[in-house]
Amino acid sequence: MVSTPNGTGTVDPEMSPAAMAVLADRYLRRDDNGRVCESVGQMMDRVAGFVAQAEDAYRAHEADRWAARFSRLLRSREFLPNSPTLMNAGTGSPVLSGCFVLPIEDSLDSIFTTLRTTALLHQAGAGTGFSFAHLRPRDDRVCSTGARASGPVSFIGLYDAATQVIRLGGRRRGASMAVLDVHHPDIREFVTAKSDPAALPTFNLSVGVTDEFMLAAVADRPHPLINPRTGRVVREISARGLLETIVAEAWRTGEPGLLFLDAINRANPLPALGALEATNPCGEVPLAPNESCNLGSLALPRFLSGDRIDEQRLGRAVRVAVRFLDDVIDVADYPAPELAAAAHATRKIGLGIMGLADTLAALGLPYDSEAAVRFTQRLMYRISRWAHAASRALAAERGAFPRYSGSVWAPLPGGPMRNAQVTSVAPTGTISLLAGTSAGIEPLFALAYTRHILGREFDQVEPLFERLATERGIWTPALAAEIAATGTADHPGVPADLRRRFVTALEMEPYWHIRMQAAVQRHTDAAVAKTVNLPETAAVGQVHDVFHQAWRAGCKGTTVYRSGSRRDQVLRPPPPG
Ligand code: CDP
Repeated sequence: MVSTPNGTGTVDPEMSPAAMAVLADRYLRRDDNGRVCESVGQMMDRVAGFVAQAEDAYRAHEADRWAARFSRLLRSREFLPNSPTLMNAGTGSPVLSGCFVLPIEDSLDSIFTTLRTTALLHQAGAGTGFSFAHLRPRDDRVCSTGARASGPVSFIGLYDAATQVIRLGGRRRGASMAVLDVHHPDIREFVTAKSDPAALPTFNLSVGVTDEFMLAAVADRPHPLINPRTGRVVREISARGLLETIVAEAWRTGEPGLLFLDAINRANPLPALGALEATNPCGEVPLAPNESCNLGSLALPRFLSGDRIDEQRLGRAVRVAVRFLDDVIDVADYPAPELAAAAHATRKIGLGIMGLADTLAALGLPYDSEAAVRFTQRLMYRISRWAHAASRALAAERGAFPRYSGSVWAPLPGGPMRNAQVTSVAPTGTISLLAGTSAGIEPLFALAYTRHILGREFDQVEPLFERLATERGIWTPALAAEIAATGTADHPGVPADLRRRFVTALEMEPYWHIRMQAAVQRHTDAAVAKTVNLPETAAVGQVHDVFHQAWRAGCKGTTVYRSGSRRDQVLRPPPPG
């Protein structure tokens, strides 16, 4: 750790300049004069020490030992918790979970109570998700006043405006997911609510679709719209026509995405508590209202040992990471008592992975290959088994989650679980930058690109590509310039095997994005954050195919992003030339 000459921060030789900029701006503690007063290592110690305090409640004098273990794990960057834990642990800001789902019932009281909670969560850097399906449709009766209702989309606008105001003072841009059930009479208004790319900037939109709706679209059957206040069918529309509108909007703007509600509820660990209707902003955690999830991700490239994954070390990290995430539930505080009660009742955590694309490249497995899909599915299976075993071991030590007996886990062999949900694969937008790996399970976006962070530009080259190209004697300034211009290894000077191995998101058939998402989903309790990146030239029909493939493959949701269709891209390949 080296102090920078101007004294405004510290430089960790292991951290990229982009990572250091983000850390110094938002994560590292500041003194009363606003100067950064903590190093990266000290940040890890702060987080580890705070989270380990949970240990003392179960067994006296254990906190120090676990603080040291957690600190070693975080400092190695084999595992990192979601941003709110890194930012807030031990600083007096109580919210540590990355995401919450909050209830919105059909009353002003509910709408504004939840708006208040949302504001407090966004202030702390957490994300929120809501189903707006219970709100009566636009122009429906408001009995008490004889007035007409303004409908879900206008209330989404209200939430968006509040989030934008809070963002002005916050460290992290507030983000939300709005879900509307495909049966809601306002569904068309919802589907086109972000037609203007500047609209609702703090929201991701997802249509909650059922298998029945998808089948009706395939068979071109009518689809009923139902007023949630009365339960009555108000009219029937063409399922295919509605899906076509969704596809066209998604092609044009990237929104809305789809949530496959039946797939989500088939995997609901607590059906007795009600159906799951919404997820957090990036879709990887379906939750019941008031529930939250602490996410954390394993940096897969850190476990590479020669041409394989060191499974012993990975298994150990999984065990410690599950314990860490379970401890976070106890040391966190929540801005409303019902949030604390829900978190403690089911103790949902979300251990996931990041750096998959880097790992595949290092192992010589092209992302768009059967071998890569098989490898990833097996790896996720192992991680899931270890994670469940770790949760069971914690249950033996500390007791099962309080709602265990009413859960789908109860009749299964293996003994009680400490957590109703253990695994979830997050986008890892920021923590993958801190870990120095590719994001989540996404393919490489480009081999060279400019990251736009905090108003500054950071040029990055895929380090493994640069190393291998250097070893083979082909890394010349001319090749570097070419790759900076196009972002890909598709050049005559690059041997075919290297080209295949470093295939980027836009070079592969969209089908492979879905194959990989589905392979990971198979062994993930919650859901998997994945955006199917498409080239600007992609046809509308390709979005249609992606949506159908994702549904048939058993994914819990799907989102597409066509290059250039939105302006606020964080990662942008450098312009050609
Ligand atoms: O890498 P980091 O921990 O910062 O977050 P992520 O893995 O990219 O996102 C995980 C979750 O954090 C998202 O699904 C959201 O629930 C939440 N999030 C948010 O609320 N606001 C953001 N700007 C980014 C993420």
